[in-house]
Amino acid sequence: MTDARAIIARIRYGQGLTPDDARWFARGLADGAVEDAQAGAFAMAVLLRGIGADGRVALTQAMRDSGRVLTWDVPGPVVDKHSTGGVGDTVSLILAPALAACGAYVPMISGRGLGHTGGTLDKMEAIPGYRALVDRAMLDDVVQQAGCAIVGATGDIAPADRRLYGIRDICGAVESVDLITASILSKKLTAGLDVLVLDVKCGSGAFMPDLESARELARALVETANGAGCRTMALITDMNSPLARSAGNAVEVQAAIDVMTKPDTPHRELRNLTCALGGEALALADLAADAEQGAEKILAALKSGHAAERFAKMVHCLGGPVDLIEQPRKYLPQYGEECRREPPIGSGRQVSAIDTRALGELVVQMGGGRLRSDDKIDHAVGLIHLARIGDRVADGDAVGRVAAHTEAEAARAFARLRSAYTLSADPVPSQPLILDRITA
Ligand code: URA
Repeated sequence: MTDARAIIARIRYGQGLTPDDARWFARGLADGAVEDAQAGAFAMAVLLRGIGADGRVALTQAMRDSGRVLTWDVPGPVVDKHSTGGVGDTVSLILAPALAACGAYVPMISGRGLGHTGGTLDKMEAIPGYRALVDRAMLDDVVQQAGCAIVGATGDIAPADRRLYGIRDICGAVESVDLITASILSKKLTAGLDVLVLDVKCGSGAFMPDLESARELARALVETANGAGCRTMALITDMNSPLARSAGNAVEVQAAIDVMTKPDTPHRELRNLTCALGGEALALADLAADAEQGAEKILAALKSGHAAERFAKMVHCLGGPVDLIEQPRKYLPQYGEECRREPPIGSGRQVSAIDTRALGELVVQMGGGRLRSDDKIDHAVGLIHLARIGDRVADGDAVGRVAAHTEAEAARAFARLRSAYTLSADPVPSQPLILDRITA
């Protein structure tokens, strides 16, 4: 007969976590049999002693199975992508419909903004009428019709993780790779996926600032997801610059639409990373011979307009306007030109460093994210025309512009935007977008 104290003691003595112990504890977290103090002690024991690769798989599967797990009856592989979070990272909005246009089915259960990073759901809710919280029947219907659906998690998704996550936060046990891995994957794998690609961000705008910690997390995620039966790989990608040249909610939807409709989009890195991640996903899902061919297929779906068609269908099925792709400016909330200012910095120098986290925090402060969980988001505010590292800033040009609620707020935001950038008169070496590739 097991109990919470025995399980915690085994972890404390470095004996790891068996599948039976993991199932018992996850069930107890979900139904309340495990008390808060026991959950806190469990999290701290895992943080201090670790539970090893097998323990991570056991905890991931047990937390995944603590609530509803979706199953699918669709004529293609079920695929998704997860990013560890960044600034201007609006890949999901493009990748879900592009993968659908290539024969995959993408039930993308997404989250809201976390800290300085934007959330896919918050961005989608910038679209008037869009309903991100839908029941199972509606999710099924949209995935069948559009091939993809970007939606939020309902309350019955991984309840054990929801409880443990809250307790980790207050007992100081957030930074455990074992717990982060099980937390991310238990939620993602409830979508009943065949294939998952991970975008582990690294740099000044990421939760993992250095390559070594990003690699450690990526390896743990890839190994655990494969151990739990989902074909998974990860790219470690640069987050020392904002990925798109926009950061905010409506402005990132606009950036995604630009990538899906304009061959000469200024958001080139956003498009390139979407193709790279999509190429890997198609290869893992046997919809392409290899990642390179997969990336070509994703690019073709963007150029042909097929990805845009899938996006339009998904948006309309979920309550948004039928012609959003044709007339985004008619629907996406935005502030007038009087609230857009360019800090003049005449120089002719190159951007050598960006405090990308500060850009994300600026968006949150302007109202584009939440400081408290019940804050309402202002979808119209944001940063646009953002420079990336290596960009040359000509005399009189700006490193970015601000779309704020009032002129006074715009003026305050310029100063903070400008101070996040470092310019150099010396040549700045170009930065690779993809830093590493982690496979099973
Ligand atoms: N995201 C999650 O879902 N869980 C974590 O622990 C960290 C990031």
